[in-house]
Amino acid sequence: MASAVADVPDRVTVFAPAKINLFLHVGDKRADGYHALQSLVGFAETGDELCAEAADDLSLVMDGPFASALADEKDNLVLRSARALAAGACVASGARLRLTKNLPVASGIGGGSADAAACLRALWRLWGLQALRGGRVSLEQAAVESGSDVPVCLLSGAALMEGRGERVTALPELPRAALVLVNPRVAVPTGPVFARLAARSGVAQIQVPSAFADVQALAAWLGQTRNDLQAPALEIAPVIQEVLTALDAEDALLTRMCGSGATCYALFANDAAAMRAAQAVQQAHPGWWVCATRIAANNIGAPRSF
Ligand code: C5P
Repeated sequence: MASAVADVPDRVTVFAPAKINLFLHVGDKRADGYHALQSLVGFAETGDELCAEAADDLSLVMDGPFASALADEKDNLVLRSARALAAGACVASGARLRLTKNLPVASGIGGGSADAAACLRALWRLWGLQALRGGRVSLEQAAVESGSDVPVCLLSGAALMEGRGERVTALPELPRAALVLVNPRVAVPTGPVFARLAARSGVAQIQVPSAFADVQALAAWLGQTRNDLQAPALEIAPVIQEVLTALDAEDALLTRMCGSGATCYALFANDAAAMRAAQAVQQAHPGWWVCATRIAANNIGAPRSF
C-alpha cells in the first residue's frame, strides 16, 4: 500500500487542454485490432479542468457547458483511469473529483483522454506517488490502459505519436500559433470512423522537423501532410465539409479536421485574424461551438496544488 508523504496537498487542480492532431497518418489494422498511426500533436490553450480533493472514496461530479452530454455515461473515463492508477500503484485512498467540461464531447480533440490524463496527473500529486518507487511506471501504465490518446495527453506538450498512439516522443515547443476550433455539435465516436477506413498498407514514417520558425513555416510544412480520418468521418457526418468550407473562407493558413472529427482547426497568421474568423463563423452558424485560441506552451497541464 502507498505510504503517506509529508508534502501531499489536500487539493490539486489540473488543466486538461484540447489535443490537436496537426497531421494524422493512419496505416493498416494491427493484430490487436488497432491501427498503426503517426501524428504530430499540439495542445490548445482551451480545455477542461479537473480538481481532485482528498477523500476516502472515489467520486466524480461534473459541471460546465458540456457536462450534460456526459450525464448518462455509467462509467466515465476519468473514473476508469483513477481506478487503473489506484490498482497499479496499490493505493487505497479515494478522491473527490470535479470535472468542468468546457469542450464538446466525442469531438476529435481528445476531451475524454485529456480529462483522464488530467485525473492521473492530479491523483499522482494528491496520492504522493512521485515519492513512491515505481510510481512513474504506474502512472504511465494507467495512461496506456485508459486509451490510445491518454499517454500523449499525460505529456500535454508537442509530441510525435506512433504505434497505436501510445508511443509518444516529446518535441520542442511549437510556434504559439493562433488557432480557431469549430465543432458543429455533432458527436462522432472514434471507433466507427476507424472502421470505415479502406484497407491500407503500412504507415510511412515521415521526418518531422525539429523546429518551425513560425506559424507560416508550420502551416507550409503541414500542407504536405493529411488527416487520413477526414474522409471516413465525412461519410458519417457530412456537416464536417460545411465546417471546413466555412473556415477556408476566412483566410486561414491551413484548415483540417482534428482527430476523428467532427471538430476542425484552422491556423492563422495572428490572434486578430483568428478572432475575426471566429466571429464570422459564429455569426453565420450560431449553433456551432467556435473557439479562438492558440497552440499552448509545452507542459500546459502541470498540476497546481493548494
Ligand atoms: O484507444 P481508444 O479507446 O481511444 O480507441 C477508440 C477506438 O478507436 C478503438 O476501439 C478502435 O476502434 C479505434 N482505434 C484504432 N486505432 C488506433 C486508435 C483507436 O483503430 N490507433
